[in-house]
Amino acid sequence: MNQQKQHDDALTDIFGSEQMLDPAPAQFIPKGKTRPEIAYQLVKDETYPQTQPRLNLATFVTTYMDEYATRLMNEAIDVNYIDETEYPRVAVMCGRCINIIANMWNTPEQNEWKAGALGIGSSEACMLGGVAAWLRWRKRRQAEGKPFDKPNLVMSTTFQVVWEKFCQLWQIEMRTVPVTLEHTTLDPEEALAACDENTICIVPIAGVTWTGLNDDIEALDKALDAYNQKTGYEIPIHVDAASGGFILPFLNPDEKWDFRLKWVLSISTSGHKYGLVYPGLGWVVWKDKKYLPDEMAFSVNYLGANITQVGLNFSRPAAQILGQYYNFIRLGYEGYREVQQNSMDVATYCHDEIGKMNCFRNYADKLVNPLFIWYMDEEYDKQSKWTLYDLQATLQQSGWMVPAYTLPKNLEDVIVMRIVVRQGMSRDMADMLLGDIRNAVAEFEKLEYPTPSRLKYEKSERQKGRVYTHTHQC
Ligand SMILES: Cc1ncc(COP(=O)(O)O)c(C=O)c1O
Repeated sequence: MNQQKQHDDALTDIFGSEQMLDPAPAQFIPKGKTRPEIAYQLVKDETYPQTQPRLNLATFVTTYMDEYATRLMNEAIDVNYIDETEYPRVAVMCGRCINIIANMWNTPEQNEWKAGALGIGSSEACMLGGVAAWLRWRKRRQAEGKPFDKPNLVMSTTFQVVWEKFCQLWQIEMRTVPVTLEHTTLDPEEALAACDENTICIVPIAGVTWTGLNDDIEALDKALDAYNQKTGYEIPIHVDAASGGFILPFLNPDEKWDFRLKWVLSISTSGHKYGLVYPGLGWVVWKDKKYLPDEMAFSVNYLGANITQVGLNFSRPAAQILGQYYNFIRLGYEGYREVQQNSMDVATYCHDEIGKMNCFRNYADKLVNPLFIWYMDEEYDKQSKWTLYDLQATLQQSGWMVPAYTLPKNLEDVIVMRIVVRQGMSRDMADMLLGDIRNAVAEFEKLEYPTPSRLKYEKSERQKGRVYTHTHQC
C-alpha cells in the first residue's frame, strides 16, 4: 500500500505496521498471518467507540462483577460445562445453584437435587419451561384419547420476544391478552377467557421487559384454581421471572408469586440479570421432578461416562456457574438484598426526579423492580419540537444508552423511554445522567424548528387528526 514502507518485523510498532493500513477482513479469511499484538489491537479498536457497558441503561444484563468473581470466571474460560466427567465439581456446583434458586422460590420438593436446568439465558430457560408444559399437556391428551394437534399458550401482549420464538418454533398458537394504559398488566379474567382445553400453560411475567411491572400472579393463580376446578382442565402457570426472579425473594419476600402458589409448576430467570452474573446464564426450575418430562433428558455416552442433560445447547461455558455460586457465597441473602435495594433506591430516585420534570410523565406511580418507563406529558407533547428519540440520540453523545421505543400492540402509539438500574449504577452516576437529561431538554427548548424526528412523528400523528402549536416551554 505505502511504497516507502519496509517489511514489518518484530520491532515494528503496532501502529507502524502495514496491517494498520489494510482494510479489516469482512468476507474472506486473510491469506497470511498477523502478529498477535496487532491482531489484538485491530479487534479491540473495532469495539472502541461502543457505549461503555455500565452506561448502557437499556440492558438488563450484568455489567459489573467484583474482581474475585471476574478472576474466577476468567480462570474457567477454558472449561466446557458439558464435559461433566472431566469437571465433575462444576456439575455439582450447578446442581447446588439450582437447589439454592429452587429454595429461594419456596419449592416444596424434598429431593436432595431439585428439578431444574441451566440455560444460556432466560430465553433457553423459558423454552425449556414451555416445552415441558407442552409435553405434559400432550401426554395427558394422549392418555385421554383426545386430539393434541392444536396447543396454545396464553400471556399478555407485553411478552418478551422469546415467547414468540417459542410459539413459532414449536408451532404453538400464541393467544395474547392486551394491556391498556388503565390495565397495565395481565388481567387474570381475560387470560382465563382466552384459555381452553388446548392451553398448555399461562405465562405471567415478573419484571415485564416493556414496563418493569409485575403481573399479579397470586390473583391469576386464585382465578385459575377456580377455573380448573370448574372445567376439569389442569392448566398450569410458567412464570417468566427473567428479572423478578432475583428481585422478589430479596425485596418482597412475602409476596406470593412462586412455588407457594398451587398452579405455578415452573419458573425461569436470568442468572445474568439480577442474578448479578456476566452474560450468558439462565435457570429454570420445576416444582417437582414429576413436572419435568423424561423425554427432555438426553443421555450421551461418549464423554467418558453416561451423562444425562436437559437443555437446548450442548457445549456451553462453565464460568458463569462459578460466577453464580461465588455470588451466592460472597453476598449471601443479606448481600443480595443490599445490592438489589440499592438498585431499587437509585431507580426510585431517578423515577422521582423524572416525574418532577414538566415535560415527562412516569408510566407507573410506584416501582416494583429497579427499572421504569416514562413518556412525554400529553399537553407538552402537543407543542413540543422534539421527541424522546432525539433525547436518546443526545444522551448517546455522552455515552448513555437510554432507549426510546413504542409500546407493544394496542399501545403502539405511546413512545416511552426506559432506564434499567443495575448493580454498578450509583447515586452519583444517576445525578450525572439526570443532569444530562435536563441539559438536553433545555437545549431542545431553544429550538426554533422541530427536529426531523419530530416532523416525522407529527406527520403520522396529523394523519390521525391531531393539532400542534409550537409555543410551549418546559
Ligand atoms: C421477561 C423476559 N423474558 C425473557 C427474556 C430473555 O432473556 P435472556 O436475554 O436472558 O435470554 C427477557 C430479556 O430481557 C425478559 O425481560
